[in-house]
Amino acid sequence: MGNKNLIDLEAMSVEQIEKLVKKAKKIMQSPADYRHACDGKILATLFYEPSTRTQMSFQTAMLKLGGRTIGFDNPMNSSVAKGENLKDTICVISGYADIIAIRHPTEGTAMAASLYSEVPVINCGDGGHLHPTQTLTDIVTLSCEKGRLDNLKIGVCGDLLNGRTVHSLIKALSKYENNSFVLISTPELSVPLYIIDILEKHHCQYEISNSLADAVKDLDMLYMTRIQRERFRSPEEYEAQKNVFVLDREKLQNAKEDMIILHPLPRVNEITVDIDDDPRALYFKQAQYGMYGRMALILLLLQDEDFILSERETTVSEHRCRNPKCITQSEDYLPNLSYEKLGMQMCDFCDKRIN
Ligand code: CP
Repeated sequence: MGNKNLIDLEAMSVEQIEKLVKKAKKIMQSPADYRHACDGKILATLFYEPSTRTQMSFQTAMLKLGGRTIGFDNPMNSSVAKGENLKDTICVISGYADIIAIRHPTEGTAMAASLYSEVPVINCGDGGHLHPTQTLTDIVTLSCEKGRLDNLKIGVCGDLLNGRTVHSLIKALSKYENNSFVLISTPELSVPLYIIDILEKHHCQYEISNSLADAVKDLDMLYMTRIQRERFRSPEEYEAQKNVFVLDREKLQNAKEDMIILHPLPRVNEITVDIDDDPRALYFKQAQYGMYGRMALILLLLQDEDFILSERETTVSEHRCRNPKCITQSEDYLPNLSYEKLGMQMCDFCDKRIN
């Protein structure tokens, strides 16, 4: 079973990721060759949550391929404001566009959209859950800048609980040979247990650290993330966490000369601006690599018949998912789709346990 929806990077094999990276590099080398690759095609960007990079890089990607874009970046300017549900919006838009890129604050929304779309759906972030095209961005950057995706010591720092980019990144890089991870966060913002399960399943070495200054010493890549204010229950809880880990010049002195610093952006305070000139700071270049990665993804989804993403086997459960952040809580027509993992029933939308 397979489809053309990129909801979770787990659906892409290592070979498919490599194919995408190769295509992105070819586009970078000769962009003029792709100027008309998507003539007549339309991308819809449905952004129910703020974005600079993901939205604009997808739009730019389609424009550079010769296609056009439609969409909204504020649902209150669409019929969502009149109470239109997700299903109806998707049924209509998939009749207008050839491909849909969607971001939403609720977990599982892209998966839900894919159930009702006639065209490929790309998850551009669903709450604190997943952000697969950011990970493709990170992988293209790593491949271009380090020349490999394996044998890396990777530090991830900041909001590892709510940072969907970190979850997708660890899931993807844990599949490559001999990668090890240093998880740098406060106890309150440590990675969810299912990420630890993934590291253990792939026999990846990992350590937990509460000191960025110590952890930075022997890393090949440091992936900084912002503390996600919008996901906290109270301003006080956010204030307690916001400036715990800040990468500055002093800490960077301990790092290897060839370590690279990535950040999905936006940055708030977690990297001081005086580091931006350091040759190891690649976060702005990373955002540009993301555009090429997204051009490659659009081409593969629209034009490569063999580029089919895997689909897991699901059943309809008698139980409803109880995760308050799951899309099944607000869109009541959605079926109780679930899949089995280690003898447990997991929600197909948000990947949380439902029994
Ligand atoms: N990295 C990222 O997702 O940035 P935006 O929120 O600006 O899209």
